[in-house]
Amino acid sequence: MPSALPSTQRVLTFQADSKTVALETIPLDKPGPGQVLIKNAAVAQNPADCAFSLFSSTIAVPDIVRVTGKVIDYGMLSAGQGMGWDFAGRIVALGEGVTDNKIGDRIAGCHIPVNSVKTVQNAFCEYTLAAVKPLLRIPDSITDEEASTIPLASLTALHLLNIISGIPKRAPLGGRAFLIWGGSSSVGQFAIQLAHIAGYKVITTASPKNHAFVKSLGAAVAIDYRAPDVLEQIVAASGWGGVDYVFDAICEGNSAELASKTLRKGGPRKVALANQLDLNNLNQSVDYYHGVPSALLNDDLNIGGVYRPRNRTDFDLAIDFFENAAGWLEEGRFKPNPVTVHPGGLSGIQDGLDFMKAGKVSGSKLVYRVADTPA
Ligand SMILES: NC(=O)c1ccc[n+]([C@@H]2O[C@H](COP(=O)([O-])OP(=O)(O)OC[C@H]3O[C@@H](n4cnc5c(N)ncnc54)[C@H](OP(=O)(O)O)[C@@H]3O)[C@@H](O)[C@H]2O)c1
Repeated sequence: MPSALPSTQRVLTFQADSKTVALETIPLDKPGPGQVLIKNAAVAQNPADCAFSLFSSTIAVPDIVRVTGKVIDYGMLSAGQGMGWDFAGRIVALGEGVTDNKIGDRIAGCHIPVNSVKTVQNAFCEYTLAAVKPLLRIPDSITDEEASTIPLASLTALHLLNIISGIPKRAPLGGRAFLIWGGSSSVGQFAIQLAHIAGYKVITTASPKNHAFVKSLGAAVAIDYRAPDVLEQIVAASGWGGVDYVFDAICEGNSAELASKTLRKGGPRKVALANQLDLNNLNQSVDYYHGVPSALLNDDLNIGGVYRPRNRTDFDLAIDFFENAAGWLEEGRFKPNPVTVHPGGLSGIQDGLDFMKAGKVSGSKLVYRVADTPA
């Protein structure tokens, strides 16, 4: 490891009171074979981080289905564990056998905190250890803050779109309608773009203040999800008597139930859910799918009674996607989420978690500049 690197670093950990997070100092790890050490410039916050900060590991996953409007399906963290999924920064050390990357490369990626063996394998750290694949090369045209918005949300969108419709495979000739419920959410923004790039007519729901924005991402039609005739508007906009596919990027209230009513008769009738829901309450003539992009990250995941083994197909999907995305970002054909930089660096995350839990995030991603962390 180059001598310029410090011997310790600060990381955010989940506290024993099951409510708070705090900074602690730990020794700086060296990258192992096939790994790189990244000095994080920016880290992004996801709803899953809120879930972790609310509960202790003594609460069984099936018992925590719906709290503060966020459905939790990722599992729990124990006191002292690190946190955070999305990071962006520069490579500062290479592990044995790493040849495709070099010191100084700007990259973004994500971790699954419940799977992290070491604290450094989380995003809310000054330095993060990561496997070399899949990592997103950050083009000069976007900032580290913007890049940190991409990994988890875009891989979630890709994974769920792929399960129900085969995206990135192109839409059938003549196109088909795809409903993205919650298009201004972080995941929804990437789902709009991916479905649009694949050739679908994208219909989305969002608050009216975000309509121009979601259209700029590729949605042909934007509809207020609070409108009493939201379903009629979606079906009319489809042009085919209903949509072929639905991606519910929200899964709150009765969004999945409503969205599935817009599927056309005789179509594939498939709905992807960003969160796990009780399917007994939903339309039984529809096929519902839920997923977590763990296999895209070349990881196994075993939570909530569901085992998701890694597989080469999903891993390759993520590698190919990140390669394509770097080019699309450079060309301006693919956009990161707008960012809201929350003050205080890693020390500001406690406050940011409360901000998100209060439902104040709209159309942008909460991001922290690691250098803003007070000494
Ligand atoms: N399966 C996975 O692996 C995975 C990974 C990441 C996230 N998720 C889940 O995906 C969901 C979205 O995450 P995110 O990070 O994208 O969320 P987010 O950006 O924090 O979501 C905020 C957005 O939600 C929209 N919204 C809120 N209620 C809505 C409703 N009833 N209908 C339509 N839109 C609504 C708001 O739209 P307006 O401001 O326009 O009203 C706002 O822009 C979360 O529940 C998260 O847990 C799952």
